[in-house]
Amino acid sequence: MRRVYLDHSATTPLDPEVLEAMLPWLREHFGNASSLHAWGRRARVAVEEAREEFAALIGAHPSEIVFTSGGTEANNAILKSCCQESGLTDTVVYSAVEHHAVIHPAEALARQGVRTAVLPVDSWGRVDPESVRPWNRPRTLISVMHANNETGVIEPIRAIRDAAPDALLHTDAVQSFGKIPFNVGQLGVDFATFSAHKIHGPKGIGAMYIRRGIDFKAHQHGGAQERNRRAGTEPVALIVGFQVAARRAVEQLEQRARHMERLTRLLRQLLRERIPGVLFNTPEEGALPNILNITFADAHKLDGDALILGMDLYGVGVSNGSACSAGTMQPSHVLLALGRTPAQARAAIRFSLSKDTTEEDIRYAVEALERVLMPMRD
Ligand SMILES: Cc1ncc(COP(=O)(O)O)c(C=O)c1O
Repeated sequence: MRRVYLDHSATTPLDPEVLEAMLPWLREHFGNASSLHAWGRRARVAVEEAREEFAALIGAHPSEIVFTSGGTEANNAILKSCCQESGLTDTVVYSAVEHHAVIHPAEALARQGVRTAVLPVDSWGRVDPESVRPWNRPRTLISVMHANNETGVIEPIRAIRDAAPDALLHTDAVQSFGKIPFNVGQLGVDFATFSAHKIHGPKGIGAMYIRRGIDFKAHQHGGAQERNRRAGTEPVALIVGFQVAARRAVEQLEQRARHMERLTRLLRQLLRERIPGVLFNTPEEGALPNILNITFADAHKLDGDALILGMDLYGVGVSNGSACSAGTMQPSHVLLALGRTPAQARAAIRFSLSKDTTEEDIRYAVEALERVLMPMRD
């Protein structure tokens, strides 16, 4: 049976070049980057070179980059440290369509007395920059993702910064980095979050950008690593893997984006032609090149999990919302925020493509969907 993986927003396969770059740091170069001897110094050089290169890729200074275990840790650290350890803010404002890695720490902070507010979104899931104006105060952290992991919609980060120049601004760029240009200066953010496994890098490594001048204190304690901003022995092999994956993603950004955009357009066209009652949760303009999220007019007759499992029987991997909340049986909070009914949110399918997806993959996936839907609609 043909196997077609279209769940790259959940995670991506590791690029062979990334694995090759990592191997020496798992085998012979095993030193601890904090050790003073030759083994340690070699590891330190690798970590600092990765930091320099990643910083350059996003227009930052190396001292502004802190490696973390991924996007979830970075989001937690930024929100919690701002409100607690660093004492920078007393209010967190976030959009209704944020990833749970922002929403849940914000809710945890609210339980501890931090003031929180949720920014509404329009029917494509976009924040109106005007809605952040009332939150333009220095002790407020505004957290709005650069692009949404379920629908791919791109948020107006620059306009949000312009509407709230005095607030601290964080953006979760886990899905956007490597898919669309990302530059901290152009966006005007104070904090940003990244993850390697969405760009053909290894799982368990990511980074946070913390603008210079911000007195950021660690949320996790127990070591002076990362200039006292994140305790824990640096995972050198993962950091090198992240560096190479990020380099390749940025170097090949235009060509990858063109390829994925063409196939996403083809997917949209085939779905329109072949699947009656298809509704698009992803706009044609202003979304990432690799995500297309759909639902169905007759969603109340369909079972979302059965759709995903039905596609799986044909060898097609897709998801029905954020991978991190799959299995909880909750309708996606993102699709509800767009105004979809709970049934439409439950029946949604997210196709997420990669640089390696082919036209045949797309044609096969649409054919599989047609076959899966047919008996359900009879
Ligand atoms: C927008 C967004 N933020 C954060 C995360 C979590 O990142 P990680 O898997 O590196 O913890 C994800 C992963 O699905 C994501 O899509």
